[in-house]
Amino acid sequence: MVGVQNLSGLFDWPLCFNGRYELRNNLKRLFTDLVVTPFNEHSKTPMWQAEVIDFIDEGDKVRKYHREVILDQGRTDFSSTEGKLPPADKVLMYCKYYMLMHFLSSCRLFEENQQFFSNKAASIQRITFIDFGCGPLTSGLSFQIFARRFFPNCKTTYLAIDRASAMLDKARDVNIYAGGYFFPFYKIQDYNQLPARLYNHRYIIDGSLLILNFCYFLAAKTLNLNDLIKMLKEELVKHKDHTIVIIYQNPVRSDFHENWKIFKSNFPEFKSFATSNRLAFEYQTLDAMSHGIEVDCDILCNK
Ligand SMILES: C[S@@+](CC[C@H](N)C(=O)[O-])C[C@H]1O[C@@H](n2cnc3c(N)ncnc32)[C@H](O)[C@@H]1O
Repeated sequence: MVGVQNLSGLFDWPLCFNGRYELRNNLKRLFTDLVVTPFNEHSKTPMWQAEVIDFIDEGDKVRKYHREVILDQGRTDFSSTEGKLPPADKVLMYCKYYMLMHFLSSCRLFEENQQFFSNKAASIQRITFIDFGCGPLTSGLSFQIFARRFFPNCKTTYLAIDRASAMLDKARDVNIYAGGYFFPFYKIQDYNQLPARLYNHRYIIDGSLLILNFCYFLAAKTLNLNDLIKMLKEELVKHKDHTIVIIYQNPVRSDFHENWKIFKSNFPEFKSFATSNRLAFEYQTLDAMSHGIEVDCDILCNK
């Protein structure tokens, strides 16, 4: 693992130049050190040789194979040791193909809705950011950069929830890399442990703004939606005096939104505040190519 870095400038917002996002230097370094270099210089295990190195010259075909077959478009089981690659390798492959894109779509969502978040954060000192299916700290990184820039006096506590310990390890590495600049970070593998955590004042204090983040998570094949809704219905009612914000993002695919529709219908006291339900933007990939994406999103709030 790469150690703690002095990332002064990490909190510069990624550049948006003529509608295209590009990473600034320190963020670029973070992605290079934690994603690109470990991927390119991965030890030649028999599995990595067969699934990655032997494929390298096949251009788009290899991308398609990695994204659709190995990663199942981000929905593979990252905790399973079955299949062709061990969990840590699947996580690294996920980071290479999806982390930057998801990081930037979170940046885009925060930027588009900056007024909403700034208003909510204006009169409070603490935010508890609960990231369901946090992956490699993707939205956490984006939110912290956003929060430091737009409401620097408000402290964030980050609860990373992911059933895959290899993902939580990667999230921890990203947090450590960003060093002293980053936030208190707590790991949870099973979201049913959340109620016990929120009971503790280390995670939530009177007046905290609660943010529940569902970024590319609700279409997971390893999610029991009814179980999640039941837990949250019981839990959120206990915190109804807090302002609670729910963030949703997923790719533009109607079958990916079914769970969101069900989820939303279970929380009628929450109203939508998103400036738009679709985000579209271009960005520069880790291979310095231009890529355009569209994402469906929503922001709900109880107050
Ligand atoms: C598509 S990834 C998204 C990761 C991250 N939010 C991002 O945008 O990069 C989905 C994540 O949800 C996690 N996950 C899937 N089912 C889960 C469950 N039942 N409980 C907690 N995490 C789960 C996976 O391990 C994976 O890290």
